[in-house]
Amino acid sequence: MLAGRRIVLGITGGVAAYKAAYIARRLTEQGASVRVVMTPTATRFIGEATFAALTGFDPIVNLFGGDDPSPHTTLASWADVIVVAPATAATLAKLASGESSNALVATVLASTCPVVVAPAMHTEMWEHDATQENLTTLASRGYEIVRPESGELAGGDVGIGRLADPDTIIETITRVVASGPLAGVHVIVTAGGTREAIDPVRFIGNRSSGKMGNAIARVAAAQGASVTLVTAADDPDISGVVAVRVESADEMAEAVWSRLDTCDVAVMAAAVADFKPEKADTTKIKRTSGLPSIQLVPTPDVLQGVHESPNRPFLVGFAAETGTLEDAAAKAKRKGVDLLVANDVTSDGSGFGSDTNEVTFFYSDGTSKGLPLLDKDDVAKALWEEVHILRGAG
Ligand SMILES: Cc1cc2nc3c(=O)[nH]c(=O)nc-3n(C[C@H](O)[C@H](O)[C@H](O)COP(=O)(O)O)c2cc1C
Repeated sequence: MLAGRRIVLGITGGVAAYKAAYIARRLTEQGASVRVVMTPTATRFIGEATFAALTGFDPIVNLFGGDDPSPHTTLASWADVIVVAPATAATLAKLASGESSNALVATVLASTCPVVVAPAMHTEMWEHDATQENLTTLASRGYEIVRPESGELAGGDVGIGRLADPDTIIETITRVVASGPLAGVHVIVTAGGTREAIDPVRFIGNRSSGKMGNAIARVAAAQGASVTLVTAADDPDISGVVAVRVESADEMAEAVWSRLDTCDVAVMAAAVADFKPEKADTTKIKRTSGLPSIQLVPTPDVLQGVHESPNRPFLVGFAAETGTLEDAAAKAKRKGVDLLVANDVTSDGSGFGSDTNEVTFFYSDGTSKGLPLLDKDDVAKALWEEVHILRGAG
């Protein structure tokens, strides 16, 4: 559920800082992109090199002197969630008062995303009115507090103040970033138009931009789904979406079919070629060789393959029609989809590459519902609402 999510991990100067290495490791293992911000004091407890190795990126410790002239605002706008673990009493005080005198606090203050803090300190520091008042302030601002546990503390003392179990912190992060009506749902979306090679420089393609599929993937991720986008267009780099780039119908079929065992809903929004050249030349066909004759053969039917799979997920198909949607109801039945989204690509505002779309939903019982011309993001929201109802969760 964390795949593709963007997480800033803030580390402060307490003994439990070493546990942040485990948190960074587990988050990256689950496919999250992790960037670390450390207070200068944190670097006295654990080395920057550890986090560089675990995340693939140098931690930010200083606001000045690095490649980025404004690292705190860059990270703040990039993050889906910021986690401060461990959070010292000093950092809680700075966060509560807004005293952004280091890169970590500045990043939190510059952000609008959810913030999770996991305090760790000696019992007396934890129970001090100052700390408790700061926590009350942070909680009232919507910060998610992962309370410390009782147990052995540094120096052999026993009491409350030990950093919460790192797995509990990770569960909280997961809940915070992957919440919404699609939480826990695995989704595959296809997008873009496939390209069928004629020779190394030429292909048979179509006008699909991938915008509709991208919008469907973006809305699903925002509603908490784990999303894999199999795309024949450019990787749109959407937070929470794992993109798999493919070129041809064969590659798209392989990418989709091989992932069905973990898929709950498949939305086939790509424009997949129906035919491909029987054989692609390995060298560029020359004009001087005369007019080539290209024999076409059928491509794999990606949608059909999903429908016939023993792991068949809830299946949404797309039909790009020209002039009339007359055939769409029959297509919905023939293809065995649970929902068919049809549009007339020749009508104003519904063509390939546009930011809007006017679609009609066709259901497996032969009924249909037309939607007005909408932004593709709004079409995507309507689609997910429909899927939610049809899957019986609504
Ligand atoms: C050995 C040692 C361990 C410490 N452990 C903690 C701790 O667990 N929690 C805490 O709030 N402060 C702890 N402190 C105090 C902080 O390091 C100190 O308040 C520092 O200013 C925190 O800075 P920072 O929040 O910017 O990282 C410790 C200090 C030392 C010397």
